[in-house]
Amino acid sequence: MPEQTCLHKLPKAEIHVHLEGCFEPATIESLACKAGERLPRPRDKLLQFSGLADFLSFLDWCCGLLQTEEQLSEAAYGFCRRMAADGTGYADVIVNPTHWRHWHWRIGDMINALDRGFCAAERDGLPAAGLCVSLLRTQSAAAAAELVDVLIERRHPRVVALSIDGNEAKAGRTGPRFAEAFRRAGAAGLKRTVHAGESSGPEGVRDAIELLGADRIDHGVRAIEDAGLVALLAERRIALGVCPTSNTALGLYACMEEHPIDRLRRAGVPVSVNTDDPCLLGVTLPGEYGRCVDAYGWSRDDVRAVARTSIEASFATPETKARLLTALQTW
Ligand code: ADE
Ligand code: ZN
Repeated sequence: MPEQTCLHKLPKAEIHVHLEGCFEPATIESLACKAGERLPRPRDKLLQFSGLADFLSFLDWCCGLLQTEEQLSEAAYGFCRRMAADGTGYADVIVNPTHWRHWHWRIGDMINALDRGFCAAERDGLPAAGLCVSLLRTQSAAAAAELVDVLIERRHPRVVALSIDGNEAKAGRTGPRFAEAFRRAGAAGLKRTVHAGESSGPEGVRDAIELLGADRIDHGVRAIEDAGLVALLAERRIALGVCPTSNTALGLYACMEEHPIDRLRRAGVPVSVNTDDPCLLGVTLPGEYGRCVDAYGWSRDDVRAVARTSIEASFATPETKARLLTALQTW
């Protein structure tokens, strides 16, 4: 069985992680202090979430504390430092401007500030990251069109994809609402990654594929409830960015034994292992691999295959992918 140290050294990419979920509790307290804001609940209960809705409103509060470009650059740099500590070779990072109230109307400036942090990290030898700029499920079609306009006009090289996240249970069926925005993003050469099959059932995953042209699905785990959909994901090789602890912490499954990642994998669906919101959920990427090894008895070859999926399904450059895949062969 691969040990934790091996899992740190495992060449891997992370393809489902939110910048919003990458603030350590101590950093949050210090940001709140600087912003002159009180914690929304007692310190010892700060990271106790009753479910996805509660979690998302915490993100609004937390990201609302960052007001300056330097703070954004520092957050991006800190993200890369954490990646290096986890032995992650590359990450596609989701950032959703709706959570950052000081930046709603300055998305171009926000991307530039984050890019400065990522560039500085790369100069210091830390791993590279691409940005997946995200819509929220509860936004309107007009707001989606506006964001895509900004992304297409600027076509910033740091931005690799259009994403959508948030609470589908609250928003209801929104595939048709966002289809045009995703079509335009795809036509402009952006990749498309879609949260579905977490707060929606398998029908949300089908809409992600058929209406939003998803290159990748974030979570996607409730596809397991529809055998035809599982076969479709396997046949089209659409990868899932699965986050086991997130799904148990936010109440989707009671435990790892109930979690369907291994059943999806054995059915031929390309699955990857990810952290979603690592600092808020108290997880690391090697730790998530370790949980799967412990729960499902994954062998070294199983782990290697999942890591290969993470690299191949990432939106990294061909050079970065080739380098990580070569390193994986000798792991
Ligand atoms: N934003 C951050 N984490 C999320 C999750 N697990 N689901 C939907 N939106 C999110
Ligand atoms: Zn997510």
